[in-house]
Amino acid sequence: MNLQRILWIAVFAIIMMESSGQKTHKSVLLQHDKKIDAIIQQMTLEEKVEMLHGKTMFASAGVERLGIADVKYADGPFGIREELQPHSWAPLGLTTDKATFFPTGSALAATWSPELAYEYGTGMAREARMRGKDMILGPAINIQRIPTGGRTYEYLSEDPFLSSRLSVGYTKGVQENEAAVCLKHYALNNQENNRGTVNVIIGERAMREIYLPPFRAAVEEADAFGVMAAYNKVNDRWCSENDILQNKILRDEWGFAGMIISDWGGTHSTVDAVTYGLNVEMPDKKYLGQALLDSVKAGKVSEEIINLRVREILRVRMEIKPVPEEKANKEITSQPAQQKIAYNVASKSIVLLKNNGILPIDISKKPVIAVIGANATQIMATGGLGAGVKTLYEVTPLEGLKNKIGDKAEIVFAQGYVPVVFTWGRKSPEQLEKEAREKEIKTKELTKEAMDVASKADLVLFIGGNNRSVETEGSDRKDIKLPSGQDELIQKIAEVNKNIVTVLTSGAPNDLNVVNSISKALLISWFNGTEGGNALADVLLGNISPSGRLPFTLPVKLEDSPAYALGNYPQGNKNADVFANLVSETDSIGVTAEKKSEALNRDPNTANYSEESLVGYRWFDTKKLPVMYPFGYGLTYTDFNYSALKTDSEKYGKNDIIRVSFELKNTGKMAADEVVQVYIHRINPSVEWPEKELKAFSRETLNPGESKTLTLEIPVKNLQYWNETKHAWDDDLCNIELQVGASAGDIKFKKEVALK
Ligand code: BGC
Repeated sequence: MNLQRILWIAVFAIIMMESSGQKTHKSVLLQHDKKIDAIIQQMTLEEKVEMLHGKTMFASAGVERLGIADVKYADGPFGIREELQPHSWAPLGLTTDKATFFPTGSALAATWSPELAYEYGTGMAREARMRGKDMILGPAINIQRIPTGGRTYEYLSEDPFLSSRLSVGYTKGVQENEAAVCLKHYALNNQENNRGTVNVIIGERAMREIYLPPFRAAVEEADAFGVMAAYNKVNDRWCSENDILQNKILRDEWGFAGMIISDWGGTHSTVDAVTYGLNVEMPDKKYLGQALLDSVKAGKVSEEIINLRVREILRVRMEIKPVPEEKANKEITSQPAQQKIAYNVASKSIVLLKNNGILPIDISKKPVIAVIGANATQIMATGGLGAGVKTLYEVTPLEGLKNKIGDKAEIVFAQGYVPVVFTWGRKSPEQLEKEAREKEIKTKELTKEAMDVASKADLVLFIGGNNRSVETEGSDRKDIKLPSGQDELIQKIAEVNKNIVTVLTSGAPNDLNVVNSISKALLISWFNGTEGGNALADVLLGNISPSGRLPFTLPVKLEDSPAYALGNYPQGNKNADVFANLVSETDSIGVTAEKKSEALNRDPNTANYSEESLVGYRWFDTKKLPVMYPFGYGLTYTDFNYSALKTDSEKYGKNDIIRVSFELKNTGKMAADEVVQVYIHRINPSVEWPEKELKAFSRETLNPGESKTLTLEIPVKNLQYWNETKHAWDDDLCNIELQVGASAGDIKFKKEVALK
């Protein structure tokens, strides 16, 4: 480590200590403290320590003697996970634990609807309670930093403001319905490769402005009761023993009064973990069991610290009433009310990227529709590594189409390609070779069948994309190409039928160069939950208008995205071939060859966030790089007109609220939702800023011909930056341009106002 970095980290730590104590929020959990004093007095040291580690895979202990129930956890974030054996990942085999599979994070984010996020939280909480759970391990709110990130599908967005609004909605929905959230993964868990060893090196400003806001908002605005410490290190300290993140920022600054649990197996020490803020080691007791007891007895940890950690757990325990044993798991978890929420979210999440008029599908003449692609029948509730949902049902795209079309058209299905299937363990070279040969033969057969089916159809619905084996916890994708040779297949199909509508059921960005040019219409339909297929069919048939908007940028090519362009990701020699390509690819945007060769030699366990705040569209817009489709983008089956932009003043003080008003009119023939977005651009700032930043948005439903006057509010306080010299939020009172539009790439009008 170089001297400058050591100094920086030391200064940061000192300043953080000084700035502690000014909490921005007062939690309802604090009301239990008096009662807790009395409980703690009655507890033995052994009983206290017993609460600080896993009792089973998904529970930590209460104190039976004092009538304090265990805390029961459930994954999260997109459905209540099935019941597992107490001490292994093997299923318990209940018949009642079939839950609703809710659309995953990026789908929820594509609704751009905090109200739907609230509904979603409500549904998750109801099902958690039916299963006797206290705390849901979600929402997952890390920023989507790299397009290849293995958990992009679980996370919400590349943008901190959108992520924050949704994490607040989700948290309120859960906590107003008798369960607690556990915000994960705190913090900076933005990659899956090496997630258990990687050290994120990040400056204060990017951390405060980009990566922490969704956590801060859920704590300050929704009083989140639980947080999960991430696997990685941040600035040289493991997250689960990171004093700055856990004690100074989360507790002292934001006023978090609840409990922090480790990610599973993510605890690394005894004294440091408990001192620097961790409450529960999950799911084991390697560090916070006997070792902790010994440390207290040896005087290495004071009993006050233990009392404090116990208190933080008891606050949550007292606020969240345990579900009586005899009431849990009595009925099937998934119920119609929650399935309806899953449908509502799915139906508002589907993003229409391109349409030359071929959609909605006209079935008046009973067409032959060739549905081609393994994703048409692919289940997305499970697959890959990590939490899945043992769903009561999942309507696939093909089933949805059949449900909604009935006999009004002829549907012919062809699988088209061999989907990726996640398997455990390493395979021998012989085995791999054999599988490759078999796959080649199968692919030829499937291609032939697909072309045959396509040639006889009026319309081809190509349903491709990733699946849960491709996008998975524990590893990132190598690239963003459509898997299983889908680009090659669609090119073949186009030789025999040009009427192609492409639907990608992916949770993360794909390279769209081929499908976008070949398809007459293109949609993203996500890992869209129990009702995903029905929602998709309703959109394709025009029963409803598409109304999702991209929660992330779709780059022209992966190498344009910031962490790749700067050689910050992937890290280390292992990826030398990827870097070799980057050297030639990124010269045009001023990334120096030295930077890249430095990256080449870097430790694979160091993730340098030198792109700072330039994440997602902030990077593309600032660097003036073309994108495939911009952040916030999505078409409908109607047209909207924006007019008469006004602000309530020309000048605003630092405590004022900017009110931006304009008229929105549905000028087309169909009811639809528009997501209006307000970005701000700084004109004469005193510090550096990205080209533009999202600061307000609203989803509006308008009937044909209807117009509305909308007013969106931006508190000037929300335009502050993190001053790295003062280690505090600060104003940059300059002239700004308000940019109102339908996406980051479609600004309808701009207006300059002054901040003073
Ligand atoms: C994941 C968490 C999850 C936990 C328990 C970990 O591997 O990172 O998100 O909640 O396992 O399943």
